[in-house]
Amino acid sequence: MGNFRLFCWALLMGLLGSLVPVVEGLGVNWGTMASHKLPPRTVVQMLIDNEIKKVKLFDADQSTMGALAGTGIEVMVAIPNDQLLAMNSYDRAKEWVRQNVTRYNFNGGVNIKYVAVGNEPFLSTYNGSFLNVTYPALVNIQNALNEAKVGDSIKATVPSNADVYYSPASNPVPSAGVFRSDISPLMTQIVEFLAKNNAPFTVNIYPFISLYLSSDFPFNYAFFNGGATPVVDNGVQYTNVFDANFDTCVAALNSVGHGDMTIIVGEVGWPTDGDKNANIANAYRFYNGLMPRIVAETGTPRRPGEIEMYLFGLLDEDLKSIDPGNFERHWGIFRYDGTPKFALDISGQGQSRMPVPARDVRYLPNQWCILNPNANDLSKLGDNIDYACRFSDCTALMYGSSCNSLDANGNASYAFNMYFQVNNQNQLSCGFQGLATVTTQNISQGGCLFPIQIVSATPLRRSSPGALAIAIMFVVSMFTMLI
Ligand SMILES: *[C@@H]1O[C@H](CO)[C@@H](O)[C@H](O)[C@H]1NC(C)=O
Ligand SMILES: *[C@@H]1O[C@H](CO)[C@@H](O)[C@H](O)[C@H]1NC(C)=O
Ligand SMILES: *[C@@H]1O[C@H](CO)[C@@H](O)[C@H](O)[C@H]1NC(C)=O
Ligand SMILES: *[C@@H]1O[C@H](CO)[C@@H](O)[C@H](O)[C@H]1NC(C)=O
Ligand SMILES: *[C@@H]1O[C@H](CO)[C@@H](O)[C@H](O)[C@H]1NC(C)=O
Repeated sequence: MGNFRLFCWALLMGLLGSLVPVVEGLGVNWGTMASHKLPPRTVVQMLIDNEIKKVKLFDADQSTMGALAGTGIEVMVAIPNDQLLAMNSYDRAKEWVRQNVTRYNFNGGVNIKYVAVGNEPFLSTYNGSFLNVTYPALVNIQNALNEAKVGDSIKATVPSNADVYYSPASNPVPSAGVFRSDISPLMTQIVEFLAKNNAPFTVNIYPFISLYLSSDFPFNYAFFNGGATPVVDNGVQYTNVFDANFDTCVAALNSVGHGDMTIIVGEVGWPTDGDKNANIANAYRFYNGLMPRIVAETGTPRRPGEIEMYLFGLLDEDLKSIDPGNFERHWGIFRYDGTPKFALDISGQGQSRMPVPARDVRYLPNQWCILNPNANDLSKLGDNIDYACRFSDCTALMYGSSCNSLDANGNASYAFNMYFQVNNQNQLSCGFQGLATVTTQNISQGGCLFPIQIVSATPLRRSSPGALAIAIMFVVSMFTMLI
């Protein structure tokens, strides 16, 4: 090739390279219920490095928002369930919108697209606590957005668990989907309000939970690459539970006259520990079946085309309640420290590659707390393990988990180390009545990782920072992006 042709070719490839489409529908959930959080700017850099253009939050934390400012990343901010009641006052709702939405609405601010009003507020385990407060909160927040003249581009929505709808046992096919009878009038009211404001319905869909909750759930039906007997619905073959569940939602919306409403999948993912089916191999299979469908905008039988989906989640969270199950702290595509767990081409170019890890993570020193090999009175061992596990995350020890095959001594060391790490390796937290000792030898084995914690991000002071601090955070985040 002549120099000029080579130049043209390089130019063309460069252009094509920059034209590689970003995965339009793809977002991630960024939860922060972790004892040791990565600095928000580190997490935002992870999003940028992995070409993730949408993020869903569970609050509107100002340090998170400061780090997102200027990045162009689309953001769903959220009102936690325990603040829904307060939002039943229109003045409070306006104040929320002022402080957590319009304040960031400037050139170089935060690209807010949605406000999540509550998080799965109608989950049966809440015993109806949020039944009466969610709809008024939704109305007030959207009306406040409208009054602030941002309602055309920023929509309020209520992320719901998929248990708000179902197909009757007498006709268990997606097209028979209706809203749960106890909340049917409420869901109708919500859907009508969303429709009036051109806002989307948001639902969280978890094939893993379907498998977890039912011992006769067909294993392969939880994934996307076949192997299960299809469910046939009026000539449509459903080969995976995700499609069936999503289309049940379409039918439920249709049953209240809004079968064409936009549906966002607020959470979808697979955990990697804490249950016999929660492991890296299954998560790899699930995500690597899901990802190409997001890229190809496959959609579902009743909704072919792009579906906006938020993976759950970005990072492991060791402070989450394990009431739903031991897997609850292991939903991350990345570990607590921002290291990826399995190959997943988030950019959607179909390559087998690891996601880009967090940069410049600061770890505590390489030391672990283990069972003292010279301890001779082990009669208090059980009590001490229980104590350690009450205040740290021992879910990896449980049945079906990555460290379940440790022997009794290994169990003790694991528990002691988790307690030691969560307490920032404070030497006093490696006592356990003389049963424990500190070592610099890594005793991780096989798939069982004895972690070293990270240096926790200094939490921003909670007092109101005002516009100046936001401006400074903004300048700082721009500056670090430039260098
Ligand atoms: C704004 O969001 C933050 C973080 O979620 C919350 O603590 C604060 O109370 C909200 N502001 C108002 C006025 O409700
Ligand atoms: C819901 O009710 C059950 C049984 O009545 C109770 O054990 C549980 O603590 C309640 N949960 C909440 C969130 O109130
Ligand atoms: C919700 O409102 C209904 C009707 O006003 C009332 O009967 C019910 O007790 C309320 N539920 C809660 C949890 O406050
Ligand atoms: C280790 O701890 C786990 C969780 O408590 C338990 O299931 C397992 O039986 C223990 N193993 C031994 C050898 O004690
Ligand atoms: C400890 O060993 C495991 C492999 O067994 C490794 O993944 C981990 O990174 C090591 N930890 C440190 C701090 O070197």
